[in-house]
Amino acid sequence: AARVFSGVQPTGHLTLGNYLGAVRRWVDDEQYRADALFCVVDLHALTVEHDPARVRRLSRQAATLLLAAGLDPERCTVFVQSHVDEHVRLSYLMECTAGVGEMRRMVQFKEKAAREEAAGVRLSLLTYPALMAADILAYGTDEVPVGEDQAQHVELTRDLAVRFNRRYGRVLVVPRASVPPVAARVMDLQDPRSKMGKTAALRNGGAGVVHLLDEPDAVRRKVMRAVTDGGTDVVYDRDERPGVANLLDVLAACRGDGDPAGLAEAYGSYGALKRDTAEAVVELLRLVRERHAELAADPGYVDGVLRAGAERARGMARPRVDAAYEAVGLLPAG
Ligand code: TYM
Repeated sequence: AARVFSGVQPTGHLTLGNYLGAVRRWVDDEQYRADALFCVVDLHALTVEHDPARVRRLSRQAATLLLAAGLDPERCTVFVQSHVDEHVRLSYLMECTAGVGEMRRMVQFKEKAAREEAAGVRLSLLTYPALMAADILAYGTDEVPVGEDQAQHVELTRDLAVRFNRRYGRVLVVPRASVPPVAARVMDLQDPRSKMGKTAALRNGGAGVVHLLDEPDAVRRKVMRAVTDGGTDVVYDRDERPGVANLLDVLAACRGDGDPAGLAEAYGSYGALKRDTAEAVVELLRLVRERHAELAADPGYVDGVLRAGAERARGMARPRVDAAYEAVGLLPAG
């Protein structure tokens, strides 16, 4: 089976974008057909100003949500990044492989660095993609299911793996990103030219971001108030009509239908499209909310899953990271 790795940052509450762009496929597809690992990447959350208690709370919540969404710990490995030291060990070798220039060119670095200007940009924000590459490469990953915004980081990971292998011998597997056919980039409902993001939640009081644990009425309100475009006819045009196209993407993704442009033809007005989209999202999230409530009442169970997951992950990563250490010329500890 193919080896799959993917992760989610505990920097905020998980969003509909995280779900449709990534988590849902992990649940519906990858865990069944691949040898898959899914990780709450908590070390990545320290690259921006953070509150320790909040990161801890959000890490547990993210792990609980992954299970609530349907990841089955019997079928895949669910764990927390900081519980497995191999990520940081390999990250250092990736920093020794990457150049400063290619790190600076990352779109996410440029965006986040601009936002963090006042608080001071952390060095780890620049080196973030080296850690992300290590996350992926430590496991000999073939496929990385992500939303569109992470494709550039996976490309860089490929470059680093190829460069490392050329210099030191074939130790690393060169992975590829896989991006969903619809909803690879869910946009903010209040600002459909920007990505719906966990940390963009303050824009317009968060009215454009649907969180997985939002109450049904909050979901309805957010979708019904989504910014639409000039004109009244429903057409699928991501450049000229980004607001409407976003609703069509979300509706198509919720229905498991790959054809947002075809859906557009069924609607004569924005109102009907919004109503159907709102109900589809509410329905999609209902089960996740219910299971989350059950699991959150049993933190011991979640901790047990994470402990077992970390142990399994460590066993998988250790030999490859040891081999990488040896390949670059470090003296084996024996
Ligand atoms: P993160 O935590 O921002 O997002 C988790 C996953 O959700 C996808 N995603 C979206 N998809 C569609 N529309 C959106 N609006 C949207 N917002 C987020 C992301 O593409 C991602 O797949 N750097 C990563 C975390 C990471 C990682 C890794 C991922 C660290 N190491 C190794 C894969 C492999 C991140 O910040 O994702």
